[in-house]
Amino acid sequence: MSTNDPARGPAAGAGLSRPDDDRHHRLELETLYRTAPVGLCLVDRSFRYLRANEALAKIHGVPVEGIVGRTVRECLPAQADAIEAAIERVFRTGEAVLADEVRRFDAGRGPSVYLIDRIPLLGEGGEVVGVHMHILDITEQRRAELARRASEERLRTLANELVLAEERERRRLAEGLHEGCAQLLTAAAFKVGAIRRDAPALETRLHEISELLQEAQRQARTLSFELSPPVLYDGGLSPALRWLAGDLRERFALEVELDDRLAGGAIDERTSVILFRAVRELLVNVVKHARVGRARVQAGLEDGGAAVAVEVTDEGRGFDGADLTGSGEGGFGLLSLRERVCDLGGRMEVRSAKDEGTSVSIVVPVARPADEAPR
Ligand SMILES: Nc1ncnc2c1ncn2[C@@H]1O[C@H](COP(=O)(O)OP(=O)(O)O)[C@@H](O)[C@H]1O
Ligand SMILES: [Mg+2]
Repeated sequence: MSTNDPARGPAAGAGLSRPDDDRHHRLELETLYRTAPVGLCLVDRSFRYLRANEALAKIHGVPVEGIVGRTVRECLPAQADAIEAAIERVFRTGEAVLADEVRRFDAGRGPSVYLIDRIPLLGEGGEVVGVHMHILDITEQRRAELARRASEERLRTLANELVLAEERERRRLAEGLHEGCAQLLTAAAFKVGAIRRDAPALETRLHEISELLQEAQRQARTLSFELSPPVLYDGGLSPALRWLAGDLRERFALEVELDDRLAGGAIDERTSVILFRAVRELLVNVVKHARVGRARVQAGLEDGGAAVAVEVTDEGRGFDGADLTGSGEGGFGLLSLRERVCDLGGRMEVRSAKDEGTSVSIVVPVARPADEAPR
């Protein structure tokens, strides 16, 4: 064997007696065992610790001498049944068990989580003479993971509440416009009409005022619908998408082909609202950027009704799909759309290339009743 065998490490030529000395080799292994940052121990058939290292002693909260020579039951009476059964299984089957996640409750430390490997130690005849264990304390990792999950959950709840709060506000404004403003304009138009009958001399100017009032009424109604289309609340997503297709055809001459496979699936208000706003933004993008007169909207359920998917496709001039840095007017451009969708646990994919059209697909999980903010 060569003396610069890398497996022997730097000590090989460093003057520690003879490098292939058994005693030296044992010393090296013992040091490694003793100082390993993972709990290590060897247990015999009567569940007695033959060997244990310092990391294990630290986990048990006793010195190494308090473990070696004692049984599992003496060291850990409360968990002995489970530990013995797990060790017994390795003796019986001769098979290693790796990365077994074990929870333990210590009066002093509280709950702890360990990752344990149990490896059979074989005798000359191949029989299991002991079980060697690695015990890794992963309590901190698990705790951090739980905290991360809880904060994600909180973020999702907040995002939910935000969507619904914004929606309530939109609805309030829309109703104010519709019931307040638009009705006042109607009353004013009615009065101007009466004066026109009584004072024909003023006909031309009153006619102009009539036209202005009518235009103001139209604008108030459109704005009210844009803010919060009543059909979204009365009928749900399907009728709202149909209404949207008609609205865009009428106002922007965009031909929208709607492939609706929602088939009356139960979709909560938050999901309907987000998807409706999303489709609207995507269709307005077609009008503004794609330079084509038609678009296709597909809507359907996924995961057995647990999620809703919509896709808006056009065959227009496309863009570099990776570049989502538009002006995002009204806070609902592609970037903020993706953020909202992700906040709600969904995903959004943009496929586009120059002169090859654009396709944006969005999947949002349907909210469970607990996700919906109280009104
Ligand atoms: N359907 C589309 N066809 C072509 N280009 C598009 C389309 N949708 C979006 N884009 C491009 O992506 C950019 C980002 O869109 P968006 O975030 O909605 O912002 P905005 O519409 O306010 O410009 C747009 O400015 C445009 O260049
Ligand atoms: Mg846009």
